[in-house]
Amino acid sequence: MRQRGPVGCSHLYSTRESNLEPLLNSASPQTDANIVSGEVRRIKDWLYETGMNEQVIRRQTNSEVRQGAAVASRGHSEEDWMAQAGPKSAGGILTIDLGAIRANYALLQQRLAGVACAAVVKADAYGLGAAQVAPALARSGCRHFFVAHLDEAIALRPRLPAQAEIFVLNGLPAGTEAICLAHQLTPVLNSLAEVDAWAGLARDRGQKLPAILQVDTGMSRLGFSRPELATLADNPGRLNGIALRYIMSHLACAEHQDSPMNTEQRDRFRRACQALPLAPASLANSSGIFLGPDFHFDLARPGAALYGIAPVAGKPNPMQPVIRLQGRIIQIREIEAGAAAGYGATWRASTPRRLATVSVGYADGFPRSLSNRGIGFAGGTPIPLAGMVSMDTTIFDVSEVPSEMLGPGDFIDLIGEHNPVDAVASRAGTIGYQILTSLGRRYHRHYVGSDEPGG
Ligand SMILES: Cc1ncc(COP(=O)(O)O)c(C=O)c1O
Repeated sequence: MRQRGPVGCSHLYSTRESNLEPLLNSASPQTDANIVSGEVRRIKDWLYETGMNEQVIRRQTNSEVRQGAAVASRGHSEEDWMAQAGPKSAGGILTIDLGAIRANYALLQQRLAGVACAAVVKADAYGLGAAQVAPALARSGCRHFFVAHLDEAIALRPRLPAQAEIFVLNGLPAGTEAICLAHQLTPVLNSLAEVDAWAGLARDRGQKLPAILQVDTGMSRLGFSRPELATLADNPGRLNGIALRYIMSHLACAEHQDSPMNTEQRDRFRRACQALPLAPASLANSSGIFLGPDFHFDLARPGAALYGIAPVAGKPNPMQPVIRLQGRIIQIREIEAGAAAGYGATWRASTPRRLATVSVGYADGFPRSLSNRGIGFAGGTPIPLAGMVSMDTTIFDVSEVPSEMLGPGDFIDLIGEHNPVDAVASRAGTIGYQILTSLGRRYHRHYVGSDEPGG
C-alpha cells in the first residue's frame, strides 16, 4: 500500500515553482520510496506535453531529491491525475488561449473609451474554465465579474483579488442571503421580495449591503416588471440599507444593429433609472458595446466576445479566436464503393474511400446536428464528416488527404483557424455560445498565452 506524504498524497503537486521547494523538503522518505521510476518518466512526458515550464522539470528530474518524485502540475489535483492518462490518450485536445481572451478584453476596453468593462464568466466562463479565465482577466485589470449562480460565485471568490466584485445574475434565492454576504458576493436583485430580504439582512447586521437592481426593459426574463418598478419608485425606503452598485438591464437583440428593440430598450432603461434613486447604470453585453456610446452607460458586461464569438451579426469578427479543438484519429479504414458509415447507414461511399474515426462524439458536446454536414480540417484541407455523430466517435472522409499525412494518433481540427466557433455553430444550427458551453470534460485542456503558470 502506498504511504501518504505530508501533503496527503504519494505524489506532490504544486501550481507554482516557488511552492515546489517546500513541498520537496517536507516530503517523507516513504512517500518517494514508493514512486517507481517509470511513473516519473510518464510524469515528465506529461509535463512537457502540457507545456510545463522546462526549468521546473529540469529541477525536478535533475535534483536527486528523493528520485525526483515531486510533480509540478498545472493545477491538477491528484484525483485528476490518477483519472487521466493525459494528452496521449484523450479523445480531443482543447487549447484555450488566455492571451487571446485578454487581447479581446483590451479591444472591448478600447471601444468603451473609459467606461468600466466587466467580464461575464458564468457557466464556467462559457465552458472555457472560470478558474483560469477569471484570474487572467483580473490581471488585465478587470474588477467586475458576473456569474449566474451563487455556487459559481462561491467557487470563484478565492480565485480573485478581494477588491474584485462578483455579481450573481440569477438573483438571491430565499434563505441564501447570509451565505451571499459571508462570501462577499453582490446579488443582482430581480424582485421586490429579493430587495426586502437583502434590506432585512442589512438591518439585522446594521450595515449597508451592496446590490445591483435589475429592471426588465423588454426581455420578460428577469428583473423588475413595470408595476414592481412603480411600487419601488413610490416606496424608495424599501431600499434602505442597500448600497445600489448599479441599476442594470439586458438587451434582447443587440447583435442585430438595426433592430428597433435596441433603442426601445435603451429608452425604457433610461426612464427606469430616472424613477429610481441615483446609481450607476449597466446595459450593454458584448454586442451592446458595438451599438455605440449611447449604450455604454457606466459598466459593460461582455461575455461572448471575450471568448472569440462574433459580436455583430453579418459583419467581420473583430475578436481574436480563443479555442482550438482537435479530435484524435483512433482508426483509419479503406472502404469500398457502396459501403455505409455510422448509425442508421445514412452515408454511403460513392467510390472507394478512406475514413478516419475520431475519438470525439456528442457526449463531448460535439453536436449531433453536425451529422453528414460538419467539416473538419487536416492542415488546411477540408474533410467532410461522414454519417451520424455518435456518442464517443465521429467519422470523417479523409480520402482527399494523402494517406501518409494522417494516421491513428494524428489529429483533425474540429474547431480552429479554418473552422471558427461561429461557423461550426451555424453548420450545427445553433449559436457559438452553445458550442462553447457544451465543450465536454473528457478533452485534455491545455491553457496557453497566460503570463503566469497555471493560468
Ligand atoms: C444579464 C447578462 N448580461 C451580460 C451577458 C453577456 O452577454 P454576451 O455573452 O452576449 O456578451 C449575459 C449573457 O447571457 C447576461 O445574461
